[in-house]
Amino acid sequence: MKDLAGKVAFITGGASGMGLAMAHSLSAAGMKVVIADIEQQALDAALKQFSDSNSEVIGICVDVTRREAMEQAAAETEAAFEKVHVVCNNAGVAVGGAMDTMTYKDWDWVMGVNLDGVVNGVQAFLPRIKAHGEGGYFVNTASMAGHIPVPSLGVYNTSKFAVVGMSEVMHMELAAHNIGVSVLCPGVVRTNIFASGRNRPDELTGAIDTAAALLQDEGGNEEQLAAMLASALDASAVGDMVLHAIQTDEFYIFTHPEFKDPVAVRAAEMSASFDRWRAYRETHNITQG
Ligand SMILES: NC(=O)c1ccc[n+]([C@@H]2O[C@H](COP(=O)([O-])OP(=O)(O)OC[C@H]3O[C@@H](n4cnc5c(N)ncnc54)[C@H](O)[C@@H]3O)[C@@H](O)[C@H]2O)c1
Repeated sequence: MKDLAGKVAFITGGASGMGLAMAHSLSAAGMKVVIADIEQQALDAALKQFSDSNSEVIGICVDVTRREAMEQAAAETEAAFEKVHVVCNNAGVAVGGAMDTMTYKDWDWVMGVNLDGVVNGVQAFLPRIKAHGEGGYFVNTASMAGHIPVPSLGVYNTSKFAVVGMSEVMHMELAAHNIGVSVLCPGVVRTNIFASGRNRPDELTGAIDTAAALLQDEGGNEEQLAAMLASALDASAVGDMVLHAIQTDEFYIFTHPEFKDPVAVRAAEMSASFDRWRAYRETHNITQG
């Protein structure tokens, strides 16, 4: 999408971190922006950042896991700005811990926000974008954890692999409707993700604070992770990369080049496994199919 000025963007998780950075980058490109977030206080603070400028930015408090609420948010966006063109399905949360320590509450919360939230964004907005016929764009926030397994991030990994797969199919299917798609796959970015437990509903909170566990190593040490976060990529750079991806129709947004090798290693391992299974079939004379 080259011509963004005057068009409308809806950004979930837009009150903090990368979502807020996207709001700044897209607004600076002349877009009208809806910042959608579950956290009213953060939403109010985010909107203040746009109050002095000529930008047209509004906020909608919405939980992306609620289907009807997302539908309502889409209707409110159209009521305010008439149409929607760009949807950034970005809201996300994380928990830490080995798979065998995870509870259904961990699974339901993380899959609800990270995967169902993206599904709900697509269900609510895709028909509306197709209906106005002016073209559009989806940016789904996954992660490098959508390509590489990370011990102690199994639930998060699962949600992000799903977002990558979903986005790859959307990319293939929506081109015919003049709707572009990107999947954002960052490494570590300096945001509030490590405090994502702040938005965890009581009914999905268990006895162990698995969101807080993200900030600790196995010995309960927070210092190393705090240092890593301090030197991490600034969210504003990611906001600008998202803008560039929309303008240039670039599907993958790989913000951290150091992950090229680990992705190649995984691909090479799968390729080697294909060879071993070909040999197995030959040995066992499996010729059909
Ligand atoms: N920060 C990183 O290192 C990193 C790396 C890769 C991917 N990501 C992904 O980036 C996205 C943005 O996260 P961030 O790092 O900017 O974190 P962040 O915590 O700063 O921002 C996330 C935003 O999502 C909102 N949110 C949480 N639950 C919600 C819900 N149910 N409905 C609506 N909004 C909700 C939060 O209020 C917050 O404003 C997430 O999908 C995250 O998984 C982050």
